[in-house]
Amino acid sequence: MLWREAVYYDARTTMSEAVRTMMRMDAEAAQETAAQADAGFLWDFWYPAVRSMEIRGQQLVTAMLLEVPLVLGRTSEGKVFAMRDSCPHRGIPLSYGRLDEKMVECCYHGWRFDACSGQCVEIPSLSSQDKLKVERIFAGHFPCEERDGYVWVYMNAPGSKLPDTIPAAPALTVFSDKYKITHLSCELPSHIDHGIIGLMDPAHGPFVHQSWFWRKRGSIHEKAKQFEPIPKGFRMSPHSPSTNSAPYQLLKKITGEPVTTTIDFVLPNLRTEIDQSGKMWFSSRATVTPVRRDLCRIDFVAAWNLFFLPVWIFRIFGKIFLRQDQETMIQQAQGLKHNPRLMLIDDADRPAKWYFALKSNLIESRRTGAPMVHPMDGPVTLRWRS
Ligand code: FES
Ligand SMILES: [Fe+2]
Repeated sequence: MLWREAVYYDARTTMSEAVRTMMRMDAEAAQETAAQADAGFLWDFWYPAVRSMEIRGQQLVTAMLLEVPLVLGRTSEGKVFAMRDSCPHRGIPLSYGRLDEKMVECCYHGWRFDACSGQCVEIPSLSSQDKLKVERIFAGHFPCEERDGYVWVYMNAPGSKLPDTIPAAPALTVFSDKYKITHLSCELPSHIDHGIIGLMDPAHGPFVHQSWFWRKRGSIHEKAKQFEPIPKGFRMSPHSPSTNSAPYQLLKKITGEPVTTTIDFVLPNLRTEIDQSGKMWFSSRATVTPVRRDLCRIDFVAAWNLFFLPVWIFRIFGKIFLRQDQETMIQQAQGLKHNPRLMLIDDADRPAKWYFALKSNLIESRRTGAPMVHPMDGPVTLRWRS
């Protein structure tokens, strides 16, 4: 929109061909926006873009969220920023340019932008005769915060204005000052919805995650779990975790106290799990973030004060676990290429049904301005074998 202002100045001084080109670009941008709206993404939420440690010194780093190319960096004052990786002049990625303290300079014609606000501050080619109001030109930029070792970006919908207040980026719950923390991630060649329903699916455990340290296929048994609605999501009410999982058994043996687990899913993509036994705790969060419509990424962060669990051991098992999910999703993607009809069954797929209902009810409430309808009336017990 701001470059339309630039067209206005241009149009008075040059020929209408420039305007036609700009109009064409405008139509293309609108088409792109419409295509993005169709991709099944949830806008106006925080998503983790990169790990904090990936942004060092005055380097520019690229990432993609919801099919939006981003360039991220850290100003000389240490503040992280995220801009659309596209110069508003001719669209060349700004990541080919350079960061100078808190200005990003485009490599093509040297326009300079304030990295945190996206505002243009300099156009080197302008002569003293030029009337273009440089400060009215903005590069796309997004709110950006660091939390739990990630750089989070608030992805407001294309063409929308940022709301006056935006919520804080998600933070992992911890229960003591001292704890260990580690991060794992893996990419899935899947649409976000398949990534998410795979994450919350209770029935694949005994098949996909068969291993001596977790559970055996033969250990499958009937389970009943209570779920309750929470804002924009649902909770598996605090319960004693599966008796066929070795790590929980070990924890119980060590503390001599019962283990309770609470698992939440909250839109757009957060699954958190908190395990507690006496003073011991383990807290984890998995997010499934849409990169493109055919690619998503799981970011997993876990923190704990379990003295007997070194980070390196956890990472070995965590990687095996994620790899098992990843291999399954790679196989599933082969099948999904041919657009098969799919099924969601009760009760094992009920959480997946809630996810789809939450998502469409949220979109509907944003469209109408009416309060969001929760798909659950109240607590409910689900039964399945796993
Ligand atoms: S394309 Fe960036 S300054 Fe021209
Ligand atoms: Fe899994």
